Amino acid sequence: MAEPLRIALAGLGTVGTGVIRLLDENRALVARRAGRPIVITAITARERSKDRGVDLTPYRWVDDMGELATADDVDVVVELVGGSDGPALTLARETLGAGRPFVTANKAMIAHHGAELAALAEDTSAALKFEAAVAGGIPVIQGLRDGAAANRIDRVYGILNGTCNFILSAMERDGRDFADVLADAQAKGYAEADPSFDIDGVDAAHKLSILASLSFGSQIDFDGVEIGGIRKILAADIAQAQALGYRIRLIGLAEIDGSNGHTQLFQRVQPVLVPIEHPLANVTGATNAVVAEGNFSGRLLFQGAGAGDRPTASAVVADLVDIARKETGPAFSMPVGELEALTRASSAHRINKTYLRMLVADRAGVLAEIAAAMRDAGLSIESLIQREVADGTALI
Ligand code: HSE
Repeated sequence: MAEPLRIALAGLGTVGTGVIRLLDENRALVARRAGRPIVITAITARERSKDRGVDLTPYRWVDDMGELATADDVDVVVELVGGSDGPALTLARETLGAGRPFVTANKAMIAHHGAELAALAEDTSAALKFEAAVAGGIPVIQGLRDGAAANRIDRVYGILNGTCNFILSAMERDGRDFADVLADAQAKGYAEADPSFDIDGVDAAHKLSILASLSFGSQIDFDGVEIGGIRKILAADIAQAQALGYRIRLIGLAEIDGSNGHTQLFQRVQPVLVPIEHPLANVTGATNAVVAEGNFSGRLLFQGAGAGDRPTASAVVADLVDIARKETGPAFSMPVGELEALTRASSAHRINKTYLRMLVADRAGVLAEIAAAMRDAGLSIESLIQREVADGTALI
C-alpha cells in the first residue's frame, strides 16, 4: 500500500476527538477506500492537559498551531478550531499559501472568507475541503458539487441547524420549555460554542450561504441572508401550529429570484410553518435535511445527522479520503473567477402566508377589532384559533 497520508489535527473538541476515534475504529476500511493509510501525526488544541477520553500519546503535540502549515511530518491540516477569523483563518491562509491541503468544519470561516481561501487554494493547487461545515454527516457538499454538477439549480432549502431542530421537536413532543431543551442540546455536543449562533439562525445562515454558492454558481453572500431564529417561539405557538396542521421548523431557503426582470439571489433563515405532510415536518431531533431542485435531476433530498461527533467526523474523514485519492477540484464546483456576483432580492416584495401570535384581553369585540385591522392592512385571514391562557387573557 502507498505511503500514509499524514494529518495534523488542530482542535480537539467534540469533532476532533470524533475524528481520532473514527480513524482508529475504521482504520483498515478507510485505508482500503483511500488507497493508503490515513494517520494522525500532529495535534494541537488550547489546553494540553484536559482529559478528552481518547489517548493522545501517539501524536506529536504542537504548541504553536501555525507550525502545522509547514511541518515536515504533515501532508494535510484539519482545522476544527472554529471562529470565522482569528487563529483558524490564519492557519487556513498559511496552510493553503504553502500549497498544503486544508480540511475544515468551519462554516463561519467559509461563509465569510470562502472565496478568498478558494482563490488561494487555486493559486497554489492545494485542496480546500469543507464537507463537515454543512449539515454534519450528510454528504451534501459533495452531492451538490459533484453529484449534481450537471444541473441548473434554482432553489435550495432545508433544516440546517441540528440544535434548533432538536429543540423544536423536543418542545413539540414533550411540551417542554425552550431553555430546558437548549441545555439538553448543549450537553449532547450539538450546540456551537456560542449557542446564540444556533438559536438566532446565524449558524444556519452560514451554511445556507455556502449551499447557495455551490447550488447557483454564485459568489457567497452571507451578509445578504435575512436571518431570524427560534428564541421567541413559545410552547403555545407549537401547539397552535399543530392544531392548524403544521409543525414549526427553522428553514433556510435560497433561491434565484427573477421576478423583477433581473436574476437576483434571495436567502432567508426563519421559523416556518411546515405542513405536517411535508417531508421536512417529519425531520426530528438533531437531524438535518437539504432539498435541492435540479433542472435534470429533479428534487433531491439529502437527510441525516446534522451535528454530533460521529457524523461530523464522518464528513471530515470523507474529505481526507478524497485528498488521499487525489480527487480534488475547485472548492465551489467551479473556479472562483466563474462565480457570479448576484444582487440581493429582498423579502419586501414577497407575498407569503404568515403566522401571527397575539396576546389579548379576553373581552367581547377583540376578534372583530383584529379582523378589521387586518382588513384595513389588506391581509386575508386563513385560520384563527383563540385559547384562554390566563384569567382574562387569550392567545390568538
Ligand atoms: N451547532 C451546529 C448545529 C453543529 O446545531 O447544527 C453542526 O454545524
